[in-house]
Amino acid sequence: MVSNPESIQVVVNKQNKLPENYVPKDLVYTTIPFTFKEQTEKKKMRSEAAAAIEQLFAGAKKQGITLLGVSAYRSHATQSALFSSYVQRDGYDKAATYSALPGTSEHETGLGIDVTKGDGTCAAQDCFGGTKEATWLDSHAAEYGFIIRYPKGKDAVTGYKYEPWHLRYVGKPVAQAIKSKGITLEEYYGIK
Ligand code: DAL
Ligand code: ZN
Repeated sequence: MVSNPESIQVVVNKQNKLPENYVPKDLVYTTIPFTFKEQTEKKKMRSEAAAAIEQLFAGAKKQGITLLGVSAYRSHATQSALFSSYVQRDGYDKAATYSALPGTSEHETGLGIDVTKGDGTCAAQDCFGGTKEATWLDSHAAEYGFIIRYPKGKDAVTGYKYEPWHLRYVGKPVAQAIKSKGITLEEYYGIK
């Protein structure tokens, strides 16, 4: 169980679960565009992360890169339903390589967000990898305090396959250190 769920630098993974019934206190609607119109919880992030993703989207736009949000905050109930649907489709073992068990998803912290390109295609799909938008994120996300949380080839460390679309807000100093060292959040903190 993580002892610091409210920390911007919290490490949540298969070994480090959020407390039962954890809900972040400062969720706000982000103003970035999403792949869907409705105002749902999926457009929310913790306030500091929401401000940072708005700056990232604006910075991208200035450099000719258009992005859309796909999924930011997910409640425990939403993550439970999502994980169960993937287990139905692919079986437990496969689902666990790309979807987090409820209580272990960064989406439940309000600090994670999945993004895609402006035409809305390849949302949370492997085809997002290698696009100019994914390449831009890989190079520039840290300037805004975000890391690519599940890098290629780090499955054994993070517990998940490569997700070029999943951004995690950790704040600029930590994001820039992780980016310059080419490591994961687990490796940065020496946590399993
Ligand atoms: N896709 C990531 C691992 C999640 O479900 O939180
Ligand atoms: Zn994600």
